[in-house]
Amino acid sequence: MSGAGKPDFFYREAQRLGYVARSAFKLLQMQKQYKLITPGSSVLDLGCAPGAWLQVACQSLGPLKNGGLVVGIDLKKVKVPAEHCDSRVQTVCADVMKLPRAHVRELSPQKGFSVVLSDMCPLVSGISSKDAALSLELDDNGVLRRGGNLVIKLLESEDVQEINKICKPLFRKASLLRPKATRSSSREIYLICQGLQSQAKT
Ligand SMILES: C[S@@+](CC[C@H](N)C(=O)[O-])C[C@H]1O[C@@H](n2cnc3c(N)ncnc32)[C@H](O)[C@@H]1O
Repeated sequence: MSGAGKPDFFYREAQRLGYVARSAFKLLQMQKQYKLITPGSSVLDLGCAPGAWLQVACQSLGPLKNGGLVVGIDLKKVKVPAEHCDSRVQTVCADVMKLPRAHVRELSPQKGFSVVLSDMCPLVSGISSKDAALSLELDDNGVLRRGGNLVIKLLESEDVQEINKICKPLFRKASLLRPKATRSSSREIYLICQGLQSQAKT
């Protein structure tokens, strides 16, 4: 639904195309512009409920024979959506901030992920953008593999400058995107980092 309480374009499109939430169009736009997920990718989706990004991530892996994996984590129990998802998608019910990093890395057979998506709201989760980037994905026990891509939802504030400054030297490319499907009343903005260059996982 829109902020005004009536279905908007993206809500109706999500229903029509079998996505469980309009947020699917945010990741679809990122995919179109940045090609973050490729066939065979291992994707970690932090804050995955109700599962629209799981659907888009799985679609982006291509046919089942291409392999790949999507692991979603959320405080809420998430049933893997029947549409657009297949056996490569699994979910874990947990508080991301309380999960040992080593445990998260073990969720991928390669001991780390090639794509990490975080759609957790910093204010709701209590995770500052700095924490999210440094302690979650990028530190020595981080879960993002060398060459990997990272998407973090931020709120437009001074945090954006700070996290951009931290991430820029670590990645080949860092960009900011406010997707078309973001509601006009929202302050959300996504930091998209491509090609992790340091603190490498082999
Ligand atoms: C905006 S929703 C994600 C929508 C999702 N990307 C989709 O397209 O379906 C944010 C989610 O982050 C989850 N979340 C917030 N803090 C969390 C934490 N510390 N650990 C796990 N999940 C968290 C919330 O429960 C919520 O479901």
